[in-house]
Amino acid sequence: MTGRVGIGMLGCGTVGTAVLRLLDEHGEDVLRRAGRPLEVIRVAVRDLSLDRDVALRVERFTDDPFEVVTSEDVHVVVELMGGIEPARSAILEALRLGKRVVTANKELLATHGPELFEAAAATGAGLHFEAAVAGGIPLIRPLIESLPGERLTRLLGIVNGTTNFVLTRMTEDGSAFDDALAEARRLGYAERDPSDDLDGFDAAAKCAILASMAFDTRVVLEDVYREGIAGVSPEDIEFARRLGYVVKPLAVAELEGGEVAARVHPAMVPEDHPLAAVREAFNAVFVSGPNVGELMFYGRGAGGAPTAVAVVGDLVTAARLAAEGRPGVAFPSERRRGIRPMERMESQYYLLLDVADRPGVLAQVAGAFGKHRVSIRSVWQEGRGDEALLVLITHRANEGDLRRTVEDLRSLDVVVEVRSVMRVEGEE
Ligand SMILES: NC(=O)c1ccc[n+]([C@@H]2O[C@H](COP(=O)([O-])OP(=O)(O)OC[C@H]3O[C@@H](n4cnc5c(N)ncnc54)[C@H](OP(=O)(O)O)[C@@H]3O)[C@@H](O)[C@H]2O)c1
Repeated sequence: MTGRVGIGMLGCGTVGTAVLRLLDEHGEDVLRRAGRPLEVIRVAVRDLSLDRDVALRVERFTDDPFEVVTSEDVHVVVELMGGIEPARSAILEALRLGKRVVTANKELLATHGPELFEAAAATGAGLHFEAAVAGGIPLIRPLIESLPGERLTRLLGIVNGTTNFVLTRMTEDGSAFDDALAEARRLGYAERDPSDDLDGFDAAAKCAILASMAFDTRVVLEDVYREGIAGVSPEDIEFARRLGYVVKPLAVAELEGGEVAARVHPAMVPEDHPLAAVREAFNAVFVSGPNVGELMFYGRGAGGAPTAVAVVGDLVTAARLAAEGRPGVAFPSERRRGIRPMERMESQYYLLLDVADRPGVLAQVAGAFGKHRVSIRSVWQEGRGDEALLVLITHRANEGDLRRTVEDLRSLDVVVEVRSVMRVEGEE
């Protein structure tokens, strides 16, 4: 290829407009690093009548994503529409035509990643997606390009800013869940419909992508166990504080015995753990392996400007590779490692029980734990009239054993209610 690299953009919303602004403001740096001038040739949007406040002539806009993809002058396609269709078909068409693709679409990658990777590999076109996970934090490229010398075994992170913000407000101000969520909305950290974030779908999609990159395999959304944060009560947060923990929305992925275990759920982490200091809408990811030890990536996981920085980084790489006629970066192999079912995963656990306040209760409760080989690490009791609150933290235990213990506890006369069960991570 000679001359400029033609860019076709699909979507010009929060991230798309920020990308156009960065390209405009940093044109010379981008030119130097890409080795060729980049020119945005076509941009697809849904509503052509909207004023987008970007330095691009209106004739460049269209409402047909496929017109952008098939335009001869477009060499690199940047997909920033979100959702599955038409994003999936447009990306597949671009890859089929041998065009490089940059996308920030975690939902699409987590559900159709293998299909897209195969299409990219078939033509050597290249698919770049740094912005799809943790916005402005460089994470995908280090996992793919900097760490092939390591066999990573664990990834522990906070990858959703909305839920981290809500739990931070509940922890630091004692806010009720709804008030914390309303504040997140006011500050632009939560969507009008925040269910994707609160129910853990957003974090699970990112966890699937990260686990695929970290363990060189193909993990999809359904492989990731998922729990949202709606069940976290102010009481859990208060007990966490008293016991020296902080409640965080975690994504955990592990490789053990050739199997991948991936899950997202709220969990208690020790207050001196680095993830406890990741507050508000910030994200952080810890990866570890036997040689490199622990690495932590920290920063703004969302927002138009940080995400646009990641998109422009990919765009420069894609444009350089296109200009040099080189194939795109390699992805996780086609290998599908086994997925470890939740029943066989291990964690520590916090349990909050309402029990009768009379002699012999502790022995019966301890008996249920002992029967299923779940070892209790600490117990804390608070009398409340005829009843008492019992807070227990276990040693590391098998999830299946813990679930059976909880079933047995529920059947005990002395246990009025199992009020809460939460995993504890980052300690043993
Ligand atoms: N926002 C963030 O902080 C963030 C962070 C990381 C990753 N991402 C990802 O980045 C992507 C874009 O997010 P965003 O926040 O920029 O979304 P957004 O503000 O909703 O923008 C989406 C853009 O796509 C256009 N669009 C949607 N469907 C279309 C269709 N069928 N045909 C043509 N154009 C269409 C929209 O057109 P109109 O403007 O006419 O409606 C809009 O310009 C998503 O995959 C998201 O998950 C976002």
